[in-house]
Amino acid sequence: NIDQKVENLLKQMTLEEKIGQLNQYTGDNTITGPLTINPNKKEEIKQGKIGSMLNVLGSEYTRQYQELAMQSRLKIPLLFGLDVIHGYKTTFPIPLAEAASWDLQAIELSARVAAREAASSGIHWTFAPMVDVSRDPRWGRVMEGAGEDTFLGSKIAYARVKGFQGNKLGELNSVLACAKHFAAYGAAIGGRDYNSVDISERTLWETYLPPFKAAVDAGAATFMNSFNDINGVPATGNSHIQRDILKGKWNFDGFVVSDWGSIGEMIAHGYVKDGKEAAFAAIMAGSDMDMESNAYRNNLKQLVEEGKVPNSILDDAVRRILRKKFELGLFDNPYRFSDSKRQQKELNNSENTKAAREVAAKSIVLLKNENKILPLSKETKTIAFIGPMVKFKRANHGFWAIDLKDVDSTYIVSQWEGLQRKVSKNTKLLYAKGCGINDSNKDGFKEAIDVANQADVVIVSIGEKHDMSGEAKSRSSIAIPGVQEELIKELQKTGKPIVILINAGRPLVFNWTADNMPTIVYTWWLGSEAGNAIADVLFGDYNPSGKLPMTFPRNEGQIPIYYNHYNTGRPAKDDNDKTYVSSYIDLPNSPKFPFGFGLSYTTFDYSDLKLSKNKINRNEEIKVSLKITNSGKIAGEEVVQLYLRDRVASIVRPIKELKGFNKIALQAGETKEISFTINNETISFYNNNIELISEAGEFDIMIGSSSEDIKLKSKFELID
Ligand code: IFM
Repeated sequence: NIDQKVENLLKQMTLEEKIGQLNQYTGDNTITGPLTINPNKKEEIKQGKIGSMLNVLGSEYTRQYQELAMQSRLKIPLLFGLDVIHGYKTTFPIPLAEAASWDLQAIELSARVAAREAASSGIHWTFAPMVDVSRDPRWGRVMEGAGEDTFLGSKIAYARVKGFQGNKLGELNSVLACAKHFAAYGAAIGGRDYNSVDISERTLWETYLPPFKAAVDAGAATFMNSFNDINGVPATGNSHIQRDILKGKWNFDGFVVSDWGSIGEMIAHGYVKDGKEAAFAAIMAGSDMDMESNAYRNNLKQLVEEGKVPNSILDDAVRRILRKKFELGLFDNPYRFSDSKRQQKELNNSENTKAAREVAAKSIVLLKNENKILPLSKETKTIAFIGPMVKFKRANHGFWAIDLKDVDSTYIVSQWEGLQRKVSKNTKLLYAKGCGINDSNKDGFKEAIDVANQADVVIVSIGEKHDMSGEAKSRSSIAIPGVQEELIKELQKTGKPIVILINAGRPLVFNWTADNMPTIVYTWWLGSEAGNAIADVLFGDYNPSGKLPMTFPRNEGQIPIYYNHYNTGRPAKDDNDKTYVSSYIDLPNSPKFPFGFGLSYTTFDYSDLKLSKNKINRNEEIKVSLKITNSGKIAGEEVVQLYLRDRVASIVRPIKELKGFNKIALQAGETKEISFTINNETISFYNNNIELISEAGEFDIMIGSSSEDIKLKSKFELID
């Protein structure tokens, strides 16, 4: 039994060897933080002084590093971690885009494929899923999460952990998942990365912790803490969240890795005065592994010898890490994941490519299709495909993809290639770049206009460059960069029908385009199959079904903006109401595009809402059923969303809260009945004593196709 094996090994370990298990350093491949500060790592691996490496890629390279560990006295294998955030070699849509699919199976599949590929390359552990809720699109890391909503985010967190870890740790196609960043990293003030977080304990529990709890429930093997402080205490040294909540209340039995250098960064926070105090604060607070800060390496021995850090604390951290190494089967065969033959078979095989294409298509959100230009005919005579994203393959991958300098990029399908493959032989495709993504040069406008003038339909692909959202990529303005919108204005003058594709790692502000262009498709960063998936949607081989997982603001002044806000004592009646109500004098309150919004090429009718009961007590439940009809002419999928409002409570409740969703596929003309269950858990909330309670009274039920487009309403009562 594994616990016994861990204890046996622990008994044989010296203090230095125990501390060694808690140190993690980067390899030389991809650097995901400031450059490493341990020049001696290869020697130290041989001495058993390093327990884990990150950024070591590939079956050969991981094998070479493991061979070093096998020269150490106790031959404790290294654990190889990597940011496999949205695919390994085959890349999938960025996580925010995938969240737009509202398709938990697709999301789990994407994580499964990523795990299979990474595990075949010697990777044991991904630093994903990122489950930080965020309501601030200025924050570059929104691209990496599931958006603004706690309920949707929790479901997705669960699916992603299951996908990465598969049936059982130790199977060759599974990796350890890592729920990050614990906690509340997404609430960084002003959306500025690494910034402080100041939120109430109740908000922490209500909004930011549930996706982490869902990850624990799904069996997440590891957690990563976050760079931010929470109410003045850095997360890395935060005993309350790591010991009391995670390892205490939630009984988490995996281990916690610090974020890159975050233990040492507690000095800059002003929480500790030096590395020794940092190491003390971190280990006592439950940070088990030190990523790259050298604090444990340089100070833990002394801290233990001085009796400041109890042996029990050290042993607990070591045990947690060793257990995972045993569970992965690394003591039986330290090289079992580093298998070049398997790697060759796994990486970017046709099954993975197919999955990536399907998930990418499901992630696309159709924002406008006013003149029904879409879907396009494959027989269209001349199509002009214009814009800086059209042939730029790297754009599709987005942030957090393996650095392409190490990977051949021929397998990435550009948008141009996707279109070429899709149209008939008779279609003439014309191309012009028009402008760069983020510069002011308009020299290419003329060529773009000439090309547009020759076409029957113009498709313009614009957006953010792959490195404009992601870690340390916060933006104070989230406008479409450069002169891309100006290019559209010029193209509009041709009078041609125009389809706009927006590629981005976050919600952007594009008011002119949104108001003046009748056809807009939000394509995010969709991964290596982006070109094919976009073509599938443009030509109707896939009917778009994505719904926004974040509210799109009208401008940055509205941020933070989210659908589940409180009503306030002076709510505005509508967007024009400015009479001493909670509003801006220069802006409507409503967003540009609401949470949960997305169109289809078909239409859906909602009807026959029925409740099994109108009154329940806390032991009872209500079955809410309704009918959905595909009232259009082609098959499609709809994400039916259930929102609740608790009308009166001792803690004011949001104007609506997502409490259920169901993605349903319907043939043209088909009707299906679907149902949701409401029980005590659905209507419970945290009070200021952090007790999960429900209170008697009336609740509104709202069912719709977005948070604003409510189609059916009802209500029920909870009685004591
Ligand atoms: O996993 C990441 C984390 O999300 C941000 N800092 C670096 C880590 C390792 O690359």
